[in-house]
Amino acid sequence: MTSLFLDTLNGKHTARPPVWYMRQAGRVLPSYLKIKEKYSFWQMMQDPELAAKVTLLPVHDLGVDAAILFSDILVIPYALGMGLDFTDAGPVFEKPLKHVDDPVRIMEPQPEKLEYIYRAIDRIKETRPENTPLIGFCGAPLTVISFMLQGLGSRSDFSDAVKWMFAHPKELQPLVDAVTSLTLTYIKNQISHGIEVFQLFETNAGLLPNEMYRRVFLPAVEKIAAAVRAKGIPFIFFPKGIGDGLHMLGPQHADFISVDWLTPLERAREILDEKIGLQGNLDPRTLFADKKVIEMELKKYLAFGRSHHDWIFNLGHGFLPGTPFESARFVTDWIKEQTW
Ligand code: CP3
Repeated sequence: MTSLFLDTLNGKHTARPPVWYMRQAGRVLPSYLKIKEKYSFWQMMQDPELAAKVTLLPVHDLGVDAAILFSDILVIPYALGMGLDFTDAGPVFEKPLKHVDDPVRIMEPQPEKLEYIYRAIDRIKETRPENTPLIGFCGAPLTVISFMLQGLGSRSDFSDAVKWMFAHPKELQPLVDAVTSLTLTYIKNQISHGIEVFQLFETNAGLLPNEMYRRVFLPAVEKIAAAVRAKGIPFIFFPKGIGDGLHMLGPQHADFISVDWLTPLERAREILDEKIGLQGNLDPRTLFADKKVIEMELKKYLAFGRSHHDWIFNLGHGFLPGTPFESARFVTDWIKEQTW
């Protein structure tokens, strides 16, 4: 496969930075919103034909350099036996674990509940345009566990989840182990079905004090990184909100780190080991501004991109609901048209 994205991940100099976006399928495309009128999220995700189609929409409509599997990070709690619904107000768990003292006792791992995702990967590989790498993903243990404990996804500060983690240090570790174990099986299967790159989403990295994050959750990230890289697959880690905790991350945690918009790329570059590449980090809210303002923000990347070839353009978090498609298209075209 000839791919700017894979070349950059593999340390080659490319003519321009590759570009893709977190949440590039599910929020911004008119073509997606149209399909969503007819099907629920579960339906789209569980039908390999539809999931493959939606995965590839941003490649056609936005011209991005990679596709990311259309699924969700909460399929892991679902496969651990938790009742889960995706409502208009976001994901809701039937029985949040914050009411449970020893959650691992009620977990019932059913890896077969993830089978439909592998069928979707097969279908994506059969139908994708040439030279379109596929990114597999899952949530990192802290992010997944904070949803499991809290029970509600959107508009939550996860305060009950954090209190539970402080109150139950003995029960927390086996929960981390249970989530990590199923996650490892899930990732190995994504890889054997042919994903080319893997990204681990730690959206809630900023939830805990850095020291607690380092002690309780980073060893699991390291284990996951090692398992992915042992198969020859590049590993991207997105620790959103980690701030000064970037200091805790080393080459054992990632090949590339996806930086949120609160940390300038130049600063992340200073902090992180030179073996680690960077991804990011346009503030997704910028896309609500007019084109002149967006372009001003984009121009700030020119100097960085011209002097750093181990960089993938992306947002500092996913596209927000309601982002104008035209702005997403403008940003993509702009990045592709510059002389880097
Ligand atoms: O482009 C894509 O959308 C790719 C697939 C994808 C989804 N979720 C689909 C989805 C990816 C990569 C995710 C990751 C995800 N899911 C994260 C980490 C990244 C991030 O944005 O922080 C998190 C925290 C979740 C949990 C989750 N799933 C939430 C909070 C919600 C509700 C609101 C929303 O849209 O994010 C979901 C549901 C979900 N996941 C939808 C989609 C397309 C919306 C379902 C619907 O429209 O009914």
